[in-house]
Amino acid sequence: MIGIFDSGVGGLSVFREIRKLLPQERYIYFSDNAHCPYGEKSREYIIDRARQITDFMLKEGADIIVVACNTATAAAISTIRSEYSTPNDHVRRLTSGRHESVSFIGMEPAVKPAAALTRTGVVGVLATAGTLKADKYRDTKGRHAEDVQVVEHIGQGFVELVESGQTTGQKAESIVMESLEPLLDAGADTIVLGCTHYPFLSETISKVASCLVPDRPTTIIDPAPAVAKHLHKVMQEQNIIKREGFALTLHASGDDSVLKQMAEALLYEGLPPESL
Ligand code: DGL
Repeated sequence: MIGIFDSGVGGLSVFREIRKLLPQERYIYFSDNAHCPYGEKSREYIIDRARQITDFMLKEGADIIVVACNTATAAAISTIRSEYSTPNDHVRRLTSGRHESVSFIGMEPAVKPAAALTRTGVVGVLATAGTLKADKYRDTKGRHAEDVQVVEHIGQGFVELVESGQTTGQKAESIVMESLEPLLDAGADTIVLGCTHYPFLSETISKVASCLVPDRPTTIIDPAPAVAKHLHKVMQEQNIIKREGFALTLHASGDDSVLKQMAEALLYEGLPPESL
């Protein structure tokens, strides 16, 4: 079983891509919406949430865990990797001896492909405050974006829009415009979506970009397909692809109505709704 978690519904944008490559697996998705957003929370707080969610998912039967959240990846993945990825009694207890170790697959803002794609030489990154200030992001930028200019902006209010299911319309457009305009003004023609909630705003982001810079096409990059590919490869290597038939179990620490609605909408794209 594949475990996927995020501070909210954002990780469903990653699940959508994973399901394309691994359609016959069982999934458990956890939305930590009672503690959302993670963007402004401390590292310690997010590590604690990641531990609790990991324990829950292992007990439920997860064989591998996707941290489908850039903020949680930046804050917590190295800690939880070292705590759960080496053989230890805690993991064996939670998994009734099933695992010696558990792998975590994380998110990373797609600065590398963006640097290769930009024609203006300016890449824009939209992410949360937590992701943008993390060492992990700075390292990525330092390694992959030496030859381009990278401009960043917090997607202010984006997570709240997606969590409330308002991904299109006038309100969404004006909130998106506030954070996107400075990046486009700086010359960015390639926008990296550095938060898993933001792909649900892609349509609005494209619309606002083509309104603000009608003569310059804007490319939007979502790292989810690359993460899905990586997960698939790791699961092949570990021989844990089970093909037991698709199933998705949804859990939320808060109200689960938007999660259910959005997951159902994704499943209608290609799978029978009774799997929910
Ligand atoms: N979906 C998240 C991310 O990828 C976190 C959003 C938040 O809770 O602030 O960063």
